[in-house]
Amino acid sequence: MAINHPSFGVMDPDRVIIFDTTLRDGEQSPGFSMNLEEKLRMAEALAELGADVLEAGFPIASPGDFESVQSIARRFAKDGPVVCGLARTSPGDIQKAADAIKDAARGRIHTFVSTSPLHMRVKLRMEPEAVLEMVTASVTMARNATADVEWSAEDGTRTEMDFLCRCVEAAIKAGATTINIPDTVGYAVPEDMFRIFNTVRERVPGADGVILSTHNHNDLGLAVANTIAAIRAGARQVECTINGIGERAGNASLEEIAMALRTRQDAIPVTNGVQTKNILRTSRLLATITGFDVQPNKAIVGRNAFAHESGIHQDGMLKDSSTYEIMTPESVGWTKSSLVLGKHSGRAAFKDKLKALGYEVGDNAMNDAFKRFKDLADRKKVVYDEDIVALVDDEVVRANDRIKLTGLSVSTGMHTRPIASIALEVDGEVREGVAGGDGGVDATFAALRVAFPHDVNLKLYAVQSVTGGTDAQARVTVRLEEEGKLVDGQGADTDTIVASARAYVHALNKLLVKRARTAPGEFKSEMGQALSA
Ligand code: KIV
Ligand code: ZN
Repeated sequence: MAINHPSFGVMDPDRVIIFDTTLRDGEQSPGFSMNLEEKLRMAEALAELGADVLEAGFPIASPGDFESVQSIARRFAKDGPVVCGLARTSPGDIQKAADAIKDAARGRIHTFVSTSPLHMRVKLRMEPEAVLEMVTASVTMARNATADVEWSAEDGTRTEMDFLCRCVEAAIKAGATTINIPDTVGYAVPEDMFRIFNTVRERVPGADGVILSTHNHNDLGLAVANTIAAIRAGARQVECTINGIGERAGNASLEEIAMALRTRQDAIPVTNGVQTKNILRTSRLLATITGFDVQPNKAIVGRNAFAHESGIHQDGMLKDSSTYEIMTPESVGWTKSSLVLGKHSGRAAFKDKLKALGYEVGDNAMNDAFKRFKDLADRKKVVYDEDIVALVDDEVVRANDRIKLTGLSVSTGMHTRPIASIALEVDGEVREGVAGGDGGVDATFAALRVAFPHDVNLKLYAVQSVTGGTDAQARVTVRLEEEGKLVDGQGADTDTIVASARAYVHALNKLLVKRARTAPGEFKSEMGQALSA
C-alpha cells in the first residue's frame, strides 16, 4: 500500500528518504562540535546535496542546540528539507523539540527510548510494561505538536523481537509516521538487519502505513552494509552522516550509501534524491569546519579513492577507465583537471571557478577571497582547485569572527630563541603582543596569549598539506579546551606559522561563541573577562 506521509505526501514505494544526522549524531561525537554559523552553512550544503530530512540537533541538550534547531527550522521553505529535533520521552524534552521546530515549513519531532533488556534494566531501571506506556505517552504528546513524528527503539537490534514489535505497534497506534530501529551499538550483521525489518514489516499491524527507518553505527565496520540489508527488507528511510562521523566509530556514511545505491541499482532497485556531484564539496566543507580530514583511503571522498598507483592499473585505466573504476570521479564531484588559475587570472575567472566548484559567495566574502587568492597566486607557482576550496572555506569559516588576525612576524632559526610579534583586532580594537617560545609556532601562540589574555589548554595541533610541493598551503587544526568544552579551529596558508595563528584565532572565536551560549556563571574564564573589560 502506498504511504501518505505528512511531509512527503503519497510516497513512491521505491523512494528512499535520506535522513541526515551529521548535525546531531555526528556533531555530538568528541571534537566535532560546530557553532551556529557552521551548522547553518552545513545545513545549506546538505539541502543542496538533496538530503530529505535534517536532524538539526537535540533541543533540550543546551541553549545552543535549541537555537541551532530553531534557526535551521526557520531557514528552509516547503521545498527544502524537513527539519527534525530529537527528544527523549519526557514532556520537557518533547516540548523543547516542539518549540524548536515550530516555525519550520516542514518540521519533525524524533522521540526515542531504549527497548533492549539491558538498557531497560541498567539505564532506565524500568519494567518493559512501563517503557511501553512511555512509548504511547511520548508519541501522543509529539503528535499533538506536529503531524510528522518519528519514534526510535534505542538499542533496537538487541531488543527481544516480541517486545520490539509491541513497542512499534504502540508507537504507530499513537501516531508515529516513521519507525526507526537503530543499531545503536553497531552490533548487528546484515542478516540480523534483514530479519528484524522483515519481521516488523510482516508482523506489526499498521507497519505498511508508516516509513520504516534504519540507523546504523559502525563499530564493526558494517554500518553501510546493514543499511543496505535494511533497505532490501523494506526500510525506506536511511539515517546517515557525511564522512560517516558520529558516536564512537561513527554512523553509516551518506556518501557511501548514495553511491552504493547508484552504482548497484541492479541489486538494490530504489531511488533517492542525492545530487551526487555535490558529495565531495559537502564532505570537504565538513572537514574544514570540524578540522578532521577523512583518511586517504576513505571510500568515495578519500584522496586516494580514485587514484591509481600501480603500473598495471594505470595501463588499464589508460585503455578504458571502467577496468578499474566502478564509478566516475566526476559523478561525486572530483574534477579532472586540477590545475586552475594563476596570478594573471582576473575576478571573473575566479568567480567562474568558484561556481564550477559549487560555491555561491556573497560580494564581501568574494572580495576578501579574491584578495587572498591574488596573494596566494603571487606566492605559489600553481593554484589548484584544492587550494581554492581551502581558501574559500577558510574565508567563510571566519566571516563572523570577533577576533581577527591582522599581523604576524616571527623570527626563528638555529641557536636563537624564536620571537613572535602579533597584531589582532578584537571587536574592532587593536591589540598587540610579543613573546618568545620553543619554536616559531610556540612563540606565536604565546604572543597571542599576550595580545588576548586567556587560559585554555591546547589539546591538539595538526598540520596537513592541501596539495603537494614545498609551496603548498598548510591546513592547520588547533583544538582548545576550556572547562571541559572542546573547540577546533582551522587555518590555511602557504606559511605554516601563519596557518597556525589563523587556526588558533579561529578556535578562540569558537570558544567565545560557546561561552556566550552557556548559561551565565557556568563558564568562567579570563578570556571572558578580557572581552568584557
Ligand atoms: O544510535 C541511536 O540509537 C540514536 C538514537 C537517538 C536514534 O542515535
Ligand atoms: Zn545514533
